[in-house]
Amino acid sequence: IDATPEWAQEVRRLAAARNATILAHNYQLPEIQDIADHVGDSLALSRIAAAAPERTIVFCGVHFMAETAKILSPDKTVLIPDQRAGCSLADSISADELRDWKAEHPDAVVVSYVNTTAAVKALTDICCTSSNAVDVVASIDPDREVLFLPDQFLGAHVKRVTGRQNMHIWAGECHVHAGINGDELTAQARSHPDAELFVHPECGCATSALYLAGEGAFPADRVHILSTGGMVDAAKAATSNQVLVATEIGMLHQLRRAAPGIDFQPVNDRASCRYMKMITPAALLRCLADNRDEVQVDPDVAAAGRASVQRMIAIGN
Ligand code: 13P
Ligand code: SF4
Repeated sequence: IDATPEWAQEVRRLAAARNATILAHNYQLPEIQDIADHVGDSLALSRIAAAAPERTIVFCGVHFMAETAKILSPDKTVLIPDQRAGCSLADSISADELRDWKAEHPDAVVVSYVNTTAAVKALTDICCTSSNAVDVVASIDPDREVLFLPDQFLGAHVKRVTGRQNMHIWAGECHVHAGINGDELTAQARSHPDAELFVHPECGCATSALYLAGEGAFPADRVHILSTGGMVDAAKAATSNQVLVATEIGMLHQLRRAAPGIDFQPVNDRASCRYMKMITPAALLRCLADNRDEVQVDPDVAAAGRASVQRMIAIGN
């Protein structure tokens, strides 16, 4: 199925008939972003899901995002157009592994990235996203140890910004962002010396970006480590004509809409998340027509994880 005007009309008709709001993450296919009621990053979409007046939330994103919406709004129907849309980062720590890690550090505060399963959130004190990870860690008593999971690159970024030493970081990674490497970034940065650089903190190359800036190869004030929502805000304020973007390539659509006069170029044009791309126009139509796939979270697990997610949506801008 192509995203024709007839498709768009049918999606809108079914959404209205179901009293559904359609949320889309910034990495979704352009046609899915364009039909959604709201497009944003993980934090913004979680907040919208928690406050939505509609009875049904259709989450065009990956499974942990829809699960987070269900934890926040257990009485709503939460649908995802394809429940196979997982996340390699969320798969990088299991609840059993976290239980064992906590047993080694019984007094530590557990901070989990939102890219985790509901079972991991149920063992967590505060969740965070890339938008507010620094604020979340800074809100914790400096004398308490922190277990930060599962993303090692986001963890390194938070440690660098907060200067916190008593922070243990899980060695997980996202296969898409880890694959945007320092060599590509260095080559692109050197061949576009007047461009600005937007880097998602999940990138393996975030450290290289700062190293390049430190070396003087790239002006430090042109390097911005940002969540996907932060990139859209920064695009509106950008002063250069060209921006190099180190993140999943779905991001380029929202950036080009936000600032049509700027030339946005991916640092790695193969950085595509196959899970995000499972949400096709056909899958969205089937979801609304057949009420599937419905996202269920065991009520006890959801109850155990709710406080950590509510803390997450209360912290940061
Ligand atoms: P954001 O919260 O920055 O949108 O990131 C979500 C994600 O999955 C990054 O890979
Ligand atoms: Fe997960 Fe990476 Fe895909 Fe984001 S880009 S959903 S972190 S696999």
